Amino acid sequence: MKTFATTIGFFALAVSAVPSTYRRPGLVQSNQLRRDLTRSALLEHAKKLQEFAEVTPEITRVAGSRGHNLTVDYIYDTLVKTGYYDVELQPFTYVFSEGNVTISAAGTSYESQYFQYAPGGTVEAPLISVSNFGCDAADFPTTVSGNIALVSRGTCEFGLKVALAGAAGAKGIIIYNNVLGPVGGGTLGPDERPEGKYIPAGSLSQEDALSLISKLNNGTSITANLDVDALIETRYTNNVIATSKCGDQSNIVFSGGHTDSVQAGPGINDDGSGSMGILEIALQLTKFTVNNAVRFGFWSAEEFGLLGSEHYITTAPAEELAKISLYLNFDMIASPNFGYFIYDGDGSAFNTTGPAGSDHIEHLFEDYLASVGIKTAPTEFDGRSDYGPFLEVNIPSGGLFTGAEGLKTPEEAIWWGGEAGVAYDVNYHAPGDDITNLNMGAWIQNTKAAAHAIATYAVSTEGIPKRTGQQKRGVKSDKPKARCGEDIPIAVM
Ligand SMILES: *[C@@H]1O[C@H](CO)[C@@H](O)[C@H](O)[C@H]1NC(C)=O
Ligand SMILES: *[C@@H]1O[C@H](CO)[C@@H](O)[C@H](O)[C@H]1NC(C)=O
Ligand SMILES: *[C@@H]1O[C@H](CO)[C@@H](O)[C@H](O)[C@H]1NC(C)=O
Ligand SMILES: *[C@@H]1O[C@H](CO)[C@@H](O)[C@H](O)[C@H]1NC(C)=O
Ligand SMILES: [Zn+2]
Repeated sequence: MKTFATTIGFFALAVSAVPSTYRRPGLVQSNQLRRDLTRSALLEHAKKLQEFAEVTPEITRVAGSRGHNLTVDYIYDTLVKTGYYDVELQPFTYVFSEGNVTISAAGTSYESQYFQYAPGGTVEAPLISVSNFGCDAADFPTTVSGNIALVSRGTCEFGLKVALAGAAGAKGIIIYNNVLGPVGGGTLGPDERPEGKYIPAGSLSQEDALSLISKLNNGTSITANLDVDALIETRYTNNVIATSKCGDQSNIVFSGGHTDSVQAGPGINDDGSGSMGILEIALQLTKFTVNNAVRFGFWSAEEFGLLGSEHYITTAPAEELAKISLYLNFDMIASPNFGYFIYDGDGSAFNTTGPAGSDHIEHLFEDYLASVGIKTAPTEFDGRSDYGPFLEVNIPSGGLFTGAEGLKTPEEAIWWGGEAGVAYDVNYHAPGDDITNLNMGAWIQNTKAAAHAIATYAVSTEGIPKRTGQQKRGVKSDKPKARCGEDIPIAVM
């Protein structure tokens, strides 16, 4: 009894005796949020990801790996600790696939890469060259039946070529590059196709394929050996979804990036840069209040075909989706030979206009980056990252991008420095996408731009049209507004 009374007395005294150690947090302001973002904090997060990838000899954070699970745990634990967010693990299953391919012909063995979801198998049979691009059943001669089809990349997806070759009776297919160099892997897509069944598939460089084709054209028959070792299995993974406890829960400002890498490497730029950029923003945001709820989505299995974001969108009830005011995507924002690209939400450059409001987001990024003296350029709004599923349900979207396998133009090298004629990220989807593959200057500038957009829309989404089915804005959450708007204790020592 005595202990109890004393404890109460102690707390009452502590609160009333030191009121100066408490402050009332203010409404978030872009400049204040940006001021608290540092290169060193970003680099600390990147070091963690590198460490997680190195837990296994493969050095990867591919969805389903130990390195990826540690990434998910790190994000989850970091955000839970703040007390500022409701944090959720959203589990889902997906079909994992990895494999190896060896190809040999006439005593020569060739370098080849595996296409995700291609079945395993060994085929030894004559090579049959396929005309056009193998995107139409009529491209496949009857002679491919029982043999190996040799098809150029281009015009349609890899999966369609493989399914059509299967339908034509081929026992295997080799897809060769349509420019110099190897194809570098790819995916057939996990779903069965109506056009035909997948068959063992591998890739060849254009040079290797053209030398074989010139012999075939000369009337020489070539027997090839195609050996595909594949692992295809159902696996479990998690998205992490964190929503501020405070702010209007019927008008959500949503940002996202993906947590997984490809199998080939640790994925520190793709997408350690985007996911850790928004994680650091989420941490710094806890010093402020917001008018609109702020949500962060850390997507898994993006590299298997945007699976985490797609799972989120396709399983959310319509009335939940209607509460999302807008979505901001950050996938690769620290490329070593970077460009400052903004998704072309208004369609002015690439003629693919996003849902109404996407133009507002693009202009907000343009205006902010111009205000800090950074030249920007639009990039295709083609749904190639996790904003794709958001576009499909008509949620206004936008985002930033520093470039992947595309080559920097001479004009861009004048704007941004770096090397013309070289990929924005020479280590894209490769083992070299490690802690040394980051341009820290581009990373901090883009993280600040992201923070500017989040802070601006967290205060007001004026200019973004209200979504169909969205409740009147300003409807208060029925959840207790823990911390947000309450006095925050300040450490005095
Ligand atoms: C990663 O997490 C998933 C989902 O919880 C689990 O099914 C899987 O076994 C884990 N993988 C490893 C390598 O720990
Ligand atoms: C691919 O090659 C590696 C290294 O030789 C091997 O460990 C692995 O089992 C192979 N097969 C698959 C399906 O990954
Ligand atoms: C094609 O055939 C001709 C005539 O038989 C021969 O001289 C030539 O070397 C062949 N070329 C190749 C690439 O096999
Ligand atoms: C832009 O897209 C629209 C609709 O897809 C199409 O009708 C129009 O021809 C396109 N314009 C240009 C310049 O490509
Ligand atoms: Zn990515």
